[in-house]
Amino acid sequence: MEKLIIKGGNALHGIVPISGAKNAALPLMCTPLLTPDPVTLENLPRLADINTLNDLLNHLGVSITIRGGKGGATGRREGRRMTFDGSEITNTVAPYDIVRKMRASILVLGPLVARFGDATVSMPGGCAIGNRPIDLHLKALEAIGADIELKDGYVRATAPHGLTGGTVRFPIASVGATENILMAASLAKGTVNIENPAREPEIIDLANCLNSMGARIVGAGTEFITIEGVPRLYGCTHSVMPDRVEAGSYAVAAIMTGGDLLLEGANAHDMGAMLGVLEETGGIINEEKACASHKGGVRVKSNGHRKGFDLVTQPFPGFPTDMQAQFMALAVVADGASVITEAIFENRFMHVPELCRLGADITVNGASATVRGVNALKGAPVMATDLRASMSLALAGLVAEGETHINRLYHLDRGYEGLEGKLRAVGADVERVPA
Ligand code: UD1
Repeated sequence: MEKLIIKGGNALHGIVPISGAKNAALPLMCTPLLTPDPVTLENLPRLADINTLNDLLNHLGVSITIRGGKGGATGRREGRRMTFDGSEITNTVAPYDIVRKMRASILVLGPLVARFGDATVSMPGGCAIGNRPIDLHLKALEAIGADIELKDGYVRATAPHGLTGGTVRFPIASVGATENILMAASLAKGTVNIENPAREPEIIDLANCLNSMGARIVGAGTEFITIEGVPRLYGCTHSVMPDRVEAGSYAVAAIMTGGDLLLEGANAHDMGAMLGVLEETGGIINEEKACASHKGGVRVKSNGHRKGFDLVTQPFPGFPTDMQAQFMALAVVADGASVITEAIFENRFMHVPELCRLGADITVNGASATVRGVNALKGAPVMATDLRASMSLALAGLVAEGETHINRLYHLDRGYEGLEGKLRAVGADVERVPA
């Protein structure tokens, strides 16, 4: 076990290279299940979740070739390139031991049933950020011709004569269910219409990759997607989009510490809602083109103020739930009161008691938290039970007096590539030590 020790007080200045997006990479890594041809993905981040999905794909019979070494001390290394060969799938069962480590494992269900007519995945079970069911994934697969059976903690989807096509109406825009159905529908015998799909940028990245494999998907990123099934998909090479949540987290660090960071490779369009809040609170935001010293990206500079703000998490293009905890860390040291409402997941305020241990003043009432800004935080040992909550504690540590010790570092390693290297390179005092 390891922990992070952060000595707060340094303003962050410089360039932070933004890695490939974890939440785009995971569905993209399931596309090789749809074709006997090799699929090559570039710009994959070095993260624990990527390794977990590799284990699952290996278990199913996908062979994987990895190029690109370990991340450097500053994190300024190219993302990894992996080639996935799904020509000899030997198994269509995703077992509990792997699925329990990562909910996104459910994303193998759609592609496997589409290509092999039979797929079994362990139910993902409970989760630290509330009860996260998979009913939307299953209803959507049923709507396009799969039979679903739940038994002994496993879900089995079958379609021995192939998926047929049909209309899927999502009552809630689910990112994972939209991704599952996009992959499955690509090999359906008919046409699939999706009403109210998720519109996140990661959905567009997946659809672009599937289309370069030969799929016929129109409308990704809008409120209505049509997929005309094709009998076969082919190999392709695709580069994973930049991680908007990683970029947003460093953007918050720039404002909290009164610094100036160039988020290299970040895409401002994908970060629209969060950049809007940052401008409101005291950020100067500029898109920068590539030049001799960097590859271009989004520059976030503090204007010296941190004003309180209100936000409500919503599906894209609204404010992302994956940034709620980090913005709460900012609200904790902003002037005046902020109200932060979590409308996507229940029970996603586990960072609140830990932020309070550092001196924050937060009152939770149902799905809303009222945060009254304080003048100073004081470092302390803290721990969090999920990835983004852990990042909010690291951000608070960057401005706290003294040392903040972040325990359970494995949460951060699930989603932030080379965190301490990237922070140190822009002036933070942070080190990883055995816990
Ligand atoms: C994905 C992201 C996660 C992000 C979330 C919302 C990945 C790997 N993870 O998770 O980081 O926080 O989107 O942007 O990309 N729901 C149901 N039934 C279902 C599925 C979802 O009721 O079958 C509900 C969920 O409980 C939640 C809402 O729908 O309230 C949205 O969840 P969803 O978009 O599916 O999240 P994930 O795809 O799991």
